[in-house]
Amino acid sequence: MDGIAAETEIARQVRAILGEDGLVQITRPIEEPGGLPNAAYWSADWLALEQARLFRRNWVFACAAAELTPGGVKPIEVGGTPVIAVRDTEGTIRAFHNHCRHRGTMLVQEECVAKTLTCPYHAWAYRLDGKLRSRPHFHGPGKVERFDDGAPGLDLAPVRCEVWNGCVFVDISGAAPALDDWLAPMLRRTSAFDFAQIRWIGKRAYRIKANWKLVLENYMEGYHVFAAHPRLVEHAPMHVRWSGEWLEHVFYNDYVAPGLSEGRGDGLPHYPGLSDEDARRGMWFAVMPNFLAEVYADQFVVMSIHPTAPDETEEELHFFVVGDEAAEAERYAKGREDLIAMWHDLNLEDVQLLERLQQGRRSIGFQGSVMSPAWEVPAHQLSAKIVEAILAP
Ligand code: FES
Ligand SMILES: [Fe+2]
Repeated sequence: MDGIAAETEIARQVRAILGEDGLVQITRPIEEPGGLPNAAYWSADWLALEQARLFRRNWVFACAAAELTPGGVKPIEVGGTPVIAVRDTEGTIRAFHNHCRHRGTMLVQEECVAKTLTCPYHAWAYRLDGKLRSRPHFHGPGKVERFDDGAPGLDLAPVRCEVWNGCVFVDISGAAPALDDWLAPMLRRTSAFDFAQIRWIGKRAYRIKANWKLVLENYMEGYHVFAAHPRLVEHAPMHVRWSGEWLEHVFYNDYVAPGLSEGRGDGLPHYPGLSDEDARRGMWFAVMPNFLAEVYADQFVVMSIHPTAPDETEEELHFFVVGDEAAEAERYAKGREDLIAMWHDLNLEDVQLLERLQQGRRSIGFQGSVMSPAWEVPAHQLSAKIVEAILAP
């Protein structure tokens, strides 16, 4: 299929799933019920389009580099396809498609530390740099074929992979822009924060029975904070908040809180050289499609989202603090614990609402969101952005 025919086919699928009414609904002004129709939150065909056109054509956060010790191997589902991230004994991190070249068996099912990746089916063995090392009996009984430097077409299929300040990203297509350019809209807004200082201290994982876009939309809008997050609204009341805005493919929102609080700037060292205002600033970014990053004076928190079904999202919260001392010193142990506990509690407040939201979207009477012009303009714009990204050549 040539390029134009493929695009036409994508456009046909979009139209078939969303329907003519659904396409009109996306373009309605915010004052009218609109946004993506229910099908986009429940259809497996629609999710397959999102996986292929969004998650497999852009940089996606895969894991934290610190999760991979030397020889560490981690299976990750990216854009609906299995991938492994591997750190070799020299420290280099790489990613590969997670299948054996012989018959396609999934090579790694559980996170592990290994010297060699040996397929359980016929024992083809690969080095951690992906090169095929040996395949016993392939040419007949007792004959072991060994490779000094791999073999083209038989080595593990590489996936483009880059590490930014302890965050491992993969680009399945291999054709996304340079990672620095992709992150640039975020980095331009955070020039006062030295991310070279961030140190990973752990993560929490959640399986949310809700569509990934509901998770994303909820992350973007501060409208629900007064109703859903009593502790958070105390730290940053509604009057310091706004709707945020899109900076190209990156959503941005922020506030300057009246003061610091536990888990939000109070209890752990800050990025060096912050102004008083930046020390009280909270910023959060959504780099489409799955790298959600929050910046406060004493932390960098990544929320990564991976859709696993139309009504299911795997979410991870990765916690980074600022500097070696913050990450390791005993006197900051409580600060680290408070930070993780605060995020965990906050996240559970959202999870229960998101699951309920997903259930409500089964109602055939729901005719589109009636969004707040004060708070939800960027979330409203997300619908068109998703369709555009799917249709983009
Ligand atoms: S499928 Fe892996 S060795 Fe046969
Ligand atoms: Fe929330």
